Amino acid sequence: CKTIGVLTSGGDAPGMNAAVRAVVRTATAKGMEVKGIRRGYAGLLDEDIVDMPPVSVSDIIHRGGTILYTARCREMFQPEVQDHAAEICRKHGIEGLVIIGGDGSFRGAGALAERGINTIGVPGTIDLDIACTDYTIGFDTAINTAMEAIDKIRDTSTSHERVSIVEVMGRQAGYIAMWCAIANGAEDMLLPEMYDHDEQALIDRIIEKRRKGKKHHIIINAEGIGHSVSMAARIEAATGIETRATILGHMQRGGTPTCKDRVYASIMGAKAVELLQEGKSKRIVAYRGGAFVDYDIQEALHMQKSLPEDYIRISKSLIR
Ligand code: F6P
Repeated sequence: CKTIGVLTSGGDAPGMNAAVRAVVRTATAKGMEVKGIRRGYAGLLDEDIVDMPPVSVSDIIHRGGTILYTARCREMFQPEVQDHAAEICRKHGIEGLVIIGGDGSFRGAGALAERGINTIGVPGTIDLDIACTDYTIGFDTAINTAMEAIDKIRDTSTSHERVSIVEVMGRQAGYIAMWCAIANGAEDMLLPEMYDHDEQALIDRIIEKRRKGKKHHIIINAEGIGHSVSMAARIEAATGIETRATILGHMQRGGTPTCKDRVYASIMGAKAVELLQEGKSKRIVAYRGGAFVDYDIQEALHMQKSLPEDYIRISKSLIR
């Protein structure tokens, strides 16, 4: 490819800027030109396209968010819109495209590849819910941000001898909740993948722990379960213990990316350009079994993953 494009799509994630920087720097070092497409596929359809020389990505590796802006673009699921998007790429001389985002964004990437644009996906989401990879850009920063917030909630929860429900993001996946439950030493974790809706059992556990002398009871609730505020009211009514709900929300998506997110995002961005240079298309860069690899997009979209059983078993055994 002589000219490639790069876009970020779907929910933003800390480390996306490091990936964009790596795409630009790797491609320009190989003599390619890079066009930045702003606001994801929506910006592609609006032809919101800017030149990205190496200097355009200076001073961004440490910043949260994405300098390219992002959007969720449902139109891009329609075949005629995909035809139009491929035409726009051709009009701007974009032969290859790096798409940093989640599964929805990769569907668009697959469609563009079928229309002659070489596409490579890079997994970017705080949710870790992309089956082909053990790592997604932003997850590490998000869990550290949530962990620090939950530590603070624990201080006040203990002082007031309360029950605290903390709702973390993750869409239908419980990865953020599971990691925080272990890292914060939570008394309970409610994960969408294995929630039994047995609120009475939860209430019994709270009463039992209080009897044993626990001063606080932190429940990490995944947003895929949700309803934290009404759950808190029911727990307070049933136990007589003051109960508060905190929904951490979008703070989990912002902030300075961790070292891991900067480094892995940089490697993935660079790998995406290397794949384009090799003439590859319709691939997703992934991290699996300790190595950076790549998969066919359709194959990757059909993969499934589940929460690691040993994490679940051990985290439960640590609650006393
Ligand atoms: O996919 C990232 C994520 O933050 C999810 O955890 C959450 O469900 C969703 O995006 C929120 O989306 P929005 O920013 O559009 O409200």
